Amino acid sequence: MMGLARDLEAALDLVTESEKVTIVSHIDADGISSASILERALMRERIDAGCLFVRQLEPFSIRQIPRDGSMCVFLDLGSGQQNLLEAHGFSRDRVFIIDHHVSQPCRDPYREVNALAYGYRKFSAAGMTYLLAKEMDPDNVEFAKLAVVGNVGDMMAREDLGLTGPAREIVKDGVAHGSIRVMERDLNCYGISTRPLHIALSYMDDPFVPGISNNSGGVLRLLQRLGVPLRNQQGDWSVWEDLSDEHRRLITSAIAQQLLANGKTHERLLTENYIFLDEARRTPLRNAGEFATLLNACGRWAKPLIGRAVCTGDRGGAYREAEHMLKHHRTVIRELMEYILDTGAIELSHLQYLHVGGRFPDTIVGIGAGLALSRLKREKPFLVMCRLPEDTNVTKVSMRTVEDVVRRGADLQAALVEAVAGCGGEAGGHRIAAGAYIPAEVEEVFVHQVNGILAGQLDKTGACHR
Ligand code: C5P
Ligand code: C5P
Repeated sequence: MMGLARDLEAALDLVTESEKVTIVSHIDADGISSASILERALMRERIDAGCLFVRQLEPFSIRQIPRDGSMCVFLDLGSGQQNLLEAHGFSRDRVFIIDHHVSQPCRDPYREVNALAYGYRKFSAAGMTYLLAKEMDPDNVEFAKLAVVGNVGDMMAREDLGLTGPAREIVKDGVAHGSIRVMERDLNCYGISTRPLHIALSYMDDPFVPGISNNSGGVLRLLQRLGVPLRNQQGDWSVWEDLSDEHRRLITSAIAQQLLANGKTHERLLTENYIFLDEARRTPLRNAGEFATLLNACGRWAKPLIGRAVCTGDRGGAYREAEHMLKHHRTVIRELMEYILDTGAIELSHLQYLHVGGRFPDTIVGIGAGLALSRLKREKPFLVMCRLPEDTNVTKVSMRTVEDVVRRGADLQAALVEAVAGCGGEAGGHRIAAGAYIPAEVEEVFVHQVNGILAGQLDKTGACHR
């Protein structure tokens, strides 16, 4: 696209003419992969770069940004916080934003390349950063893999069962470079490189397969019937990626039959999986989905620099620590899911909500909300609240919905931005996933206000009662 090519060129001039760059990025998989791509690309250009990771751009974190005259490049955040940048006196010629969140209207906008401005709805900040890096030096195609991790981490492959549009072009770069293998029409199942096969299959929830999902007995019987061994010749648990093509085909068709027998569609049974050929087998770095979880495990538990070290090639101390973080992350996510499902959500007319109090950190409740939605009423957006440990006067809000509801008119980012305007706070995100910080005393009013706004959004399209 012309506009994008021109804007990337302008961004390139701006960044490469800087003596020093301060990268400010988000603590999730997309933010960490974006920062790693840019930092490594700048290193190649011999430009001095420092890196700061923040949970969100808000009044507290914004004060941590060094004001040393360097060019501040905001990654995976910033577009939605331009008024805050202005209020903190960030000069327009020392700021550049690379983002994919909805932009905030601003009197005099900052310079940015935002995926949404080019019509790219399924393209994350790491994708955008990769395009800039490739513009700097064609050898930066080596970072295609990290861009794929960022995109997959932000769920850009979920709806279409694979990356599409410009994100798919990056996959092609990685394939040409020799670092990515695309497993086409592969099983839509998480954990293909590390999870023991019987566990990976029993965790399938998109599609939910009767007799298999949540049913380890059913899975064991199926594998026995098909003659697929639970352990490989070395005596280790079998994993999906290491099975023979024949065994993979047998399992896939048996699951398809199972869906058919239960009157369920198999349209979400197959997806594209992205394997990283230069990573060791049976490690969480071997495919895009698991790599993204590893980065989230670091960033969301306050160790984004460990994630960055893994992205920049550390397979020693930092990697071991990241594996440790991953184990912990998985345990807590499991507990969070159990808590949500055991406690149950309170239903209003157009949303369902739950307050987890101080039991879980604000950095992971959104992940729990997204995962739990597949087991709750999918047609009602889910809002989860939690207390902030460092300030009990502030409540963190995370919201998630599904594509069908977005198509019917729901826009979570717009709903939260409108609702915080009435009661104070900060909000932002996407149509399908958004978050906010609000004063704790307005929680009840806030939830009802969001419910009313969603009702209006869905009524406008005349579709909510269909
Ligand atoms: O800040 P950020 O954009 O990275 O937040 C991404 C979050 O939004 C992820 O937790 C992801 O689960 C969610 N998301 C989603 N579906 C999309 C895009 C994002 O669930 N299509
Ligand atoms: O924190 P959570 O994962 O729920 O965030 C969902 C989305 O909303 C993310 O893309 C995040 O960057 C965005 N968000 C935001 N402003 C906030 C809170 C979250 O833009 N105050």
